[in-house]
Amino acid sequence: MIDISNGKNHFINTAKIDGIIKSICNNNNNELYNYGNVKGDKTLREQIANFYNCQYETQITSHNVIITNGSQQSLSYILDYLGLNYYSTINICTPTYYGIIELANLKKFRLNNYSTIKETKQIKEVIYITPYNNNPDGRNITQKEYAVLKQLSEHNIIIEDDPYSLFSFNKKNNPPLFTKLKNVIYLGTFSKIISPSINIGYIICKDIDIINSLYAIKKANCLHTSVFMQKVVSEYIKEDFLQEIKQKSQLLRINYETIKMLVKKYFNNEVFVSNINGGYFTVLTFPQNVDALKTKVNFCFCTLEDFYIDKSLGKNQIRINLSLNINFDLIFSNLSVEYYKNSKKHS
Ligand SMILES: Cc1ncc(COP(=O)(O)O)c(C=O)c1O
Repeated sequence: MIDISNGKNHFINTAKIDGIIKSICNNNNNELYNYGNVKGDKTLREQIANFYNCQYETQITSHNVIITNGSQQSLSYILDYLGLNYYSTINICTPTYYGIIELANLKKFRLNNYSTIKETKQIKEVIYITPYNNNPDGRNITQKEYAVLKQLSEHNIIIEDDPYSLFSFNKKNNPPLFTKLKNVIYLGTFSKIISPSINIGYIICKDIDIINSLYAIKKANCLHTSVFMQKVVSEYIKEDFLQEIKQKSQLLRINYETIKMLVKKYFNNEVFVSNINGGYFTVLTFPQNVDALKTKVNFCFCTLEDFYIDKSLGKNQIRINLSLNINFDLIFSNLSVEYYKNSKKHS
């Protein structure tokens, strides 16, 4: 069964990871087998700070960085921090990453939906956003939305969840919001850059009080992040990993062009493909619901209900993972047969 929603990412450079793990083991360093610093390995935190300083001319240091067990854990700690500081609402613009919706519901935050980001006069609000190459639909914020976010960032907290901005189809990447705006808590992850199994992410915040609070929360929840895996990441990013990301982005682009071509071929332009400039995902929007087709086709796909607050939405939308090395033609031809059979039944 092929999974076109998540599936197996064929970009993972297993040879490079294997080589790094072997060389780490050969060095027989006892420190690697013990508990590490709760905030994360200092060298890795410095590497991360240097990366943003070089790319975007920020002036952050290792003190602004906390290493976590991936962005999902970062989000959980950030929501704990917000709850402890009497924030009760998270503003999101759907469709958005289902992980924030699940977490906010679990931790009893109110979720407020913006169809477009708009001005709010209220203070003590929180905006969660993946500004570039959003999961699931790959969209980017517009210039107008950027201007509104800039204004909002004066008095509100912005959570910038950014696994994908480096995977841009264009030569230049969009600078993360935290490099330009105030009051941003930034989340990065190596899940897409190296591999999800590494499970290392990081939080960057210019406000040291927030970093100290997040440190206390992490310390109470988790003794440390795997020292061994942090070393793997540290070695991995010593070499020029941006070049590798650019190559992966070109493969993502080729799959995206293929999807657009196949939608024309099998659906006569009845299906809308979300417009993207990078990232791992695009969304197909059908004129009718397609969730019932899940059991009819011989591959698995996800419709977008979980990416909305209102679960009646998204049943006519499918997320496609562009990092898969599969026969999309076969899948689309199969999907179109079932789709038109089903449409006839209902017409
Ligand atoms: C927007 C977004 N945030 C967070 C995550 C989770 O990242 P991690 O694997 O680092 O926990 C993902 C994973 O797909 C994602 O798309």
